[in-house]
Amino acid sequence: MESLQARVLGALGRFPHPRLGTDLLSSGTARDIVVDQATGHVSLTVLLGRDDPATLVRETRAMLRAIEGVTEVKLQVRDPAGPPKPTHQPPAGPQSAAAGMPAPQPVPAPSLGAIIAVSSGKGGVGKSTVAANVAVALAQQGYRVGLMDADVYGPNIPRMFGVFEKPMVAGGRIQPLEAHGVKLMSIGFLVDRDAPAIWRGPIIMKVIQQFLRDVEWGELDFLLVDMPPGTGDAQLSLVQSVPVAAALIVTTPQEVAVGDALRGARMFEKVGVPVAGIIENMSGFTDPETGKRFELFSSGGGARLAAEVGAPLLGQVPLQPGLADAADRGQPVVLAAPQSAAAAALREVAASVAQQLAGRAVELPVIHG
Ligand SMILES: Nc1ncnc2c1ncn2[C@@H]1O[C@H](COP(=O)(O)OP(=O)(O)O)[C@@H](O)[C@H]1O
Ligand SMILES: [Mg+2]
Repeated sequence: MESLQARVLGALGRFPHPRLGTDLLSSGTARDIVVDQATGHVSLTVLLGRDDPATLVRETRAMLRAIEGVTEVKLQVRDPAGPPKPTHQPPAGPQSAAAGMPAPQPVPAPSLGAIIAVSSGKGGVGKSTVAANVAVALAQQGYRVGLMDADVYGPNIPRMFGVFEKPMVAGGRIQPLEAHGVKLMSIGFLVDRDAPAIWRGPIIMKVIQQFLRDVEWGELDFLLVDMPPGTGDAQLSLVQSVPVAAALIVTTPQEVAVGDALRGARMFEKVGVPVAGIIENMSGFTDPETGKRFELFSSGGGARLAAEVGAPLLGQVPLQPGLADAADRGQPVVLAAPQSAAAAALREVAASVAQQLAGRAVELPVIHG
């Protein structure tokens, strides 16, 4: 059974906006959505413009009340053109272009330790592979590690860790799942496989904030965040929600135009998040028999990107036969083939991440043996 929140968000995502031609979710018409799984209370704000039919509010309420498990709907109506709520003075800060409202300011979360975004320009370059293996390697080194899957479009952390349960909610807090010594949270635990495509804009912000604030992570040394590719809503939401200690950018050797990856790196720098390093993945192939290394693609993408960004190249992870199959069975390569060149490279990345951030972070990560 889907969680109540998933049902409510799904219903809002399917509900057509009478004027905008999209749905209530993607249009941002329904916002500030809070779903209390325990009591069935739903509260939300509905933006009702001058030209919108007033019946929209009634219909939205009726639609939500009809959802199984919903016991009460608190709906606040706001004029999108009207003045922002005068309950508090908006702090001076970067403006969110879309809404014309002040961008939310990051709220420190010292118990989460050093928050590290794992990002890339393109999909399929190995972000999730790097995030998963660095997380496991850090846990093996004795650190307390969380891994948050912020790839709302294609969450694959559940499969990579072989975990498919629904998280429990206790005392109003979502309990992360745990595998290979790493605490995990993913949208993939909460919604059906095909549902995430509808999670756009404001709702991504909600999901990311909820994952940061309403999940019982406990005390962590590191929280790795597996991002979707590019520089979209998830990246923006993350950096607006919490202070991010560093970004890791994953690229492949043959990305001739390092353009996308570079844009990704610049985006983090622009908001004051340093790029801790570049990881070149699928970097050649080492024959397991002879140890001989082959370059399969025009190489050097990682080094070029590192030079452009002015960040270190933390590792070159070779193509590893069997890595994908093991990953699909829930076994990251540092566990499935710890002797492999790929595992060694990923462990090295983890070690430099630990070293860099332990030397610099205010919330000093310490080893718990
Ligand atoms: N070094 C590698 N050797 C072999 N297969 C890899 C390697 N890195 C990633 N893969 C495989 O490539 C695919 C894409 O990797 P993934 O980590 O899911 O990329 P992303 O998160 O950037 O979309 C997956 O099937 C993964 O198992
Ligand atoms: Mg991924």
